[in-house]
Amino acid sequence: MIQCDYKNAVKRMDRPSRLALVVSKSGNRGANIITLGWFMRTSIQPPMFAISVGLTRYSHELLSENRKFVLSIPSTKMAEQVLQCGTQTGMNVNKIEEFNIKVKRGKLSDIPILIDAVANFECKTITQIRSGDHTIFIGEVKYSWQNENPNLEQLLSIPDDENYVALAKVGNYIVGKINQDD
Ligand SMILES: Cc1cc2nc3c(=O)[nH]c(=O)nc-3n(C[C@H](O)[C@H](O)[C@H](O)COP(=O)(O)O)c2cc1C
Repeated sequence: MIQCDYKNAVKRMDRPSRLALVVSKSGNRGANIITLGWFMRTSIQPPMFAISVGLTRYSHELLSENRKFVLSIPSTKMAEQVLQCGTQTGMNVNKIEEFNIKVKRGKLSDIPILIDAVANFECKTITQIRSGDHTIFIGEVKYSWQNENPNLEQLLSIPDDENYVALAKVGNYIVGKINQDD
């Protein structure tokens, strides 16, 4: 074990990892979608998720104003859209329209769920905690949805090596799936 920079140690732990899309909406503005690597389950009963969102994100404003969000787990069909939502801001672009993201109405509110995701969770924000330059929003799951196709694969944030198949790439971000060829 050798002591090193924080950046080098983090590089060893951050890929592969799951990804999420969070849909938020406030007032009569359109729904917006942010890509997140920082999210986790935090309670079994009631089911809860925590998401960590940068203070400067447009989504931060929407999540602070309307205490509801949809946490959506993207499928491999959504590789390009995940990187588009993660590199452009809803301040300048209507991501759902521009990136042809298929949505449908959920049950909790007018925040839509994502049709091509493997699962969607409609959440009510219970509390939030400031964490440096991010805020952790904790949401209780009110309604859950799964894709009707059981073979649809979950999209991952992946390292650049032969154990994974890259499906989209922007800068240092690579998303894809596990390479199952032997
Ligand atoms: C793979 C990936 C993971 C990301 N993870 C996070 C995250 O956990 N938290 C966060 O605040 N931003 C994260 N981002 C950056 C935001 O998605 C990005 O800044 C986005 O453009 C913000 O959109 P908004 O301004 O419409 O809210 C991630 C981006 C990518 C591509």
